[in-house]
Amino acid sequence: MQGNEIRRNFLEFFRDKQHRVVPGSSLIPARDPSLLFTNAGMNQFKEVFLGNEERPYRRAASCQKCLRVSGKHNDLEQVGNTTRHHTLFEMLGNFSFGDYFKEEAIEFAWEFFLERLGLPDDRLWITVFEEDKESESIWKKQSGTSANRILRLGEAENFWSMGETGPCGPCSEIHFDRGKGIGCGKSQCGPACDCGRFTELWNLVFIQYNRDSRGKLHPLERKGIDTGLGLERIAAVLQNVETNFDTDLFLPLIRSTADLCGVTYGKDPQLDVSLRVVADHLRAIAFLISDGVIPSNDRRGYVLRRILRRAIRHGWKLGREDPFLWNLTGGVADLMGSAYPELERSRQVTEKVCKREEERFRETLQISSRLLDDLTEDLRKKGVDTIPGGEMFRLYDTYGMPLDFQEEIARDKGLRLDQTGFQEHLEKQRQRARKGWKGGASDEVRAPYRELFPRGGSLFQGYQETTLEGCKVLAILVGNRKVDELREGEKGEILLDRTPFYPEGGGQVGDCGEISSGLGTARVSDTHGPAPGVILHRVEQISGRSTTGETVLARVDPEPRISTARNHTATHLLHAALRQVIGLHVKQSGSYVGPDRLRFDISHYAPIGSTTRAEVEDLVKEKVQEDHPVQVEEMSFDDALAAGALAFFGDKYADRVRVVRVVDFSVELCGGTHVRRTGEIGEFQLLSDSSVSSGVRRLEAFSGRGAAGKGRNDRTLLDQLEVLLKVGRNQVPQGVRRLIDQQKVQRKEIETLRQRLMSGAGENPRGRVERLGDVTLVSRIVEGANPADLRNLADGIRQQYGSGVVILGSVSGGKGFLSLSLTKDLAKSQSARRILDLAAGSTGFRGGGRDHLAEAGGPAANLPDVVDLAFEAARDLLDPGSGNRKGKLKR
Ligand code: SER
Repeated sequence: MQGNEIRRNFLEFFRDKQHRVVPGSSLIPARDPSLLFTNAGMNQFKEVFLGNEERPYRRAASCQKCLRVSGKHNDLEQVGNTTRHHTLFEMLGNFSFGDYFKEEAIEFAWEFFLERLGLPDDRLWITVFEEDKESESIWKKQSGTSANRILRLGEAENFWSMGETGPCGPCSEIHFDRGKGIGCGKSQCGPACDCGRFTELWNLVFIQYNRDSRGKLHPLERKGIDTGLGLERIAAVLQNVETNFDTDLFLPLIRSTADLCGVTYGKDPQLDVSLRVVADHLRAIAFLISDGVIPSNDRRGYVLRRILRRAIRHGWKLGREDPFLWNLTGGVADLMGSAYPELERSRQVTEKVCKREEERFRETLQISSRLLDDLTEDLRKKGVDTIPGGEMFRLYDTYGMPLDFQEEIARDKGLRLDQTGFQEHLEKQRQRARKGWKGGASDEVRAPYRELFPRGGSLFQGYQETTLEGCKVLAILVGNRKVDELREGEKGEILLDRTPFYPEGGGQVGDCGEISSGLGTARVSDTHGPAPGVILHRVEQISGRSTTGETVLARVDPEPRISTARNHTATHLLHAALRQVIGLHVKQSGSYVGPDRLRFDISHYAPIGSTTRAEVEDLVKEKVQEDHPVQVEEMSFDDALAAGALAFFGDKYADRVRVVRVVDFSVELCGGTHVRRTGEIGEFQLLSDSSVSSGVRRLEAFSGRGAAGKGRNDRTLLDQLEVLLKVGRNQVPQGVRRLIDQQKVQRKEIETLRQRLMSGAGENPRGRVERLGDVTLVSRIVEGANPADLRNLADGIRQQYGSGVVILGSVSGGKGFLSLSLTKDLAKSQSARRILDLAAGSTGFRGGGRDHLAEAGGPAANLPDVVDLAFEAARDLLDPGSGNRKGKLKR
């Protein structure tokens, strides 16, 4: 029986037993921070088991993609070495939420194995929790079981917990005996032995408790069933092959890898391990990328990066050092795309992301190899023959250099590796990682509200109305305490039986407004929904009082509500436009929808260029202008999926879902408030994107009044620029460009002048400074300055002296220039022009000017003379009796 058939048979079998067949969820667990990746079929039902969520069915079955990269056997470095462990695997499961319990769970499993799959009962072994007599006796009643194949085991083997907290209970497992010839051969070998003879196939968990963060078990009101049957393992048994990798679920991938690498599967055990690793990892890579994960150094992205790098490394062992994986990821879509259409949709993106990472890893290796070279050189100098564990870990963890690579290099250089030290560092890091993912912050936030309002009781009625009369105050909270009333000036939270206030959710901010009665008015600043059926208004009592039991009028501020609705519908259009323009891999990874603006984060591996951005913006505007109706419908989850609704983000959906649709352009599951027609959005403006974290881009946009206001601001800015630059609107960019260019040229000139000034400050040719009483005479020759430079320079020098004459000369373009200037006070009684006339004489310098400034040009060769002559002339004019320094000459 092929993998696809087993999947189908399982789901059909349980459908016949009145189970609702539920689609598996994304590998990224929705709203469960305690979990890095979906690791069991029951994850999406966690809240149902705990009694916090209701579903319209009490029996369900699914086929769930799961990812495990830590644990006894699933540790990433181990995968490939065993024949039955994978990173990504498929778990077939049936579930009961307060419906059937042990008896039926055992009977169903037995019937499926024996009757539907035809497994031989004498090769099936059962384990039960040692304290669970009930299960044992149920098993004994099944035909074909034998007491000597039913074993009682302890908590380590037969008590299953989802994590450190959450649903758990005793379990019973069905194992398959692969025969005496396999494994350790010891007489006491059994299902608990690790040797490989026994394969655990199916785990039936009797969910009975909730484990809290202190490890305490709390019995659940409704008991449940959670089972997990590994598809790859049952396929190996049914296909009678030695390893999971020899089933139809892996072989095509192994073959294409072997072909690409030019090796043959089944010839060399070492190469076979590498082929298995690559095949396993290809599946994880394709599934992770199609669920929106991008390689990065952060949490999930880091796991993907490690998987990719491990696959690359095994590629080298197979003789491929160039990027090669990206050529093979399509094989996963070929093989599994019919059961997981997301693989098909992300085919191209997966290739691109994979190729980029392969290229990047090559670069990384070049860097880390250099580091390792330096390190070994250092150690050799110091006479140390072992590479310390800490250094190994740094190369491994920070620089991504695989351990066996380090081993090879160390061997070449005659060095040893401190493996123990390395393992210690690795273990520490693992502990850090584990800590990072336990706890479940959201649970902590929700718990007190659940206790306070076990039955919820609050109904949202704000889709059509923003004002509701006759609402009843069910409770008032101050902190986490219920109070009877809220007096003027006090702050608290009000729970109503029904409300038009939208509680923050799905990225949309909570409503604000007023709750009032004959007794007084409370101002609502925000609304949130911390637990199912609990909608809390954060209020301040601005007049009178609010009391429990009172009938009130609830009124949402209409202005922010409509602006938010515009932005929300605009967000859907933006999402659809991004998918259409950039690609179907674009997935929402967060959003903010408020009255002022909208923000949209997407998983995408590269910045969004301005052309693409303009295309996206135009497409949204087009849909706004076409003024499509925004249709809102309630339907079953399955119908919604069939209608093409985007449902990957929050994948824990109720059975009846709300679908918001804009023709065929955008179909999304959404509980938010929207405009009635896209035309109501009015304007739309998309700003540039930025990076939030590796692989996540953030887009910001404005719609409606926000966009109109933003547009007006932009226009005012442009008006001002036009005036300042004295150019027409279309010329503004060129005008600014011209200024920038000019500034660049000037900056260079200033720099040159400054350098010259500084270098000329000491022994400047013809550089003289002389003081005649209060008056200073300065002369200087500046190489290469043009007349304008001379004028600037003269300005600067004059500013240094209260009163004086500045004589500057320069040679530029083969010509001599002379500039003569007087400070203002001197120019009243003296004349620069007259000094020039006195000095120029036979030097051939000609020019003109006025009292404060005169300029002349002449032969470069005579420049020093004319400067000297001007200096003398100025001195004579200012001080004709050369002994009398104070005298001043009249004109
Ligand atoms: N949750 C159990 C497991 O993962 C059974 O599905 O083994």
